[in-house]
Amino acid sequence: MNLLLEELRKQVEDCTRCPLHTSRTRAVFGEGDGPFMMVGEAPGRQEDIQGRPFVGQAGRLLNEILAEAGMERNHFFITNVVKCRPPNNRNPRPEEIEACRPYLDRQVEIIRPPAILSLGRFSGTVLLGRKRIITLRDYRRRVLKSIYGIPLIITYHPASVFRNPRLREHIVEDFRLFYRQFYSSFLDGPVPGSSG
Ligand code: URA
Ligand code: SF4
Repeated sequence: MNLLLEELRKQVEDCTRCPLHTSRTRAVFGEGDGPFMMVGEAPGRQEDIQGRPFVGQAGRLLNEILAEAGMERNHFFITNVVKCRPPNNRNPRPEEIEACRPYLDRQVEIIRPPAILSLGRFSGTVLLGRKRIITLRDYRRRVLKSIYGIPLIITYHPASVFRNPRLREHIVEDFRLFYRQFYSSFLDGPVPGSSG
């Protein structure tokens, strides 16, 4: 892996910038080769134990959906808006998201993805640079522009499917949009240049 990312990984793994460091087992920096990025919300129980993103129940579902949309997990660098697990999987707090933001900013700066796929309201809110948590229905199914100037598609968080099974189809649909807009040209030839 990239040396700059490895250096940043060490910083994140030792980070004490917000109170989540007191209850975490391991910080979850992220993994995957890229060129694309996928950004979730926060590590869950399994992620906290293993130190890897999306390796629990939501991760299994994510893998299924990726396969259905014809994309490989390893073609994304997968991370979260907060790198440490909130106790009992509660929502991340605004001050925790704020404290952790520089790490996401730096990951994007190093990776320079041609496009970003965002999973869930918290990730969507951060990547759009909004103050209030967004409602996903208003932002799905189109190509948006992230705070980084990089194209962005936002969809539901895979875990939301456990509460509402109908959302699974919507996520697949949005993943297919990502495929058509960005991923297919990556397969066909050179990686499209970042528009940022
Ligand atoms: N949910 C997330 O948002 N991220 C993970 O890494 C796992 C579950
Ligand atoms: Fe640091 Fe982010 Fe973990 Fe908070 S959540 S301790 S800011 S790495």
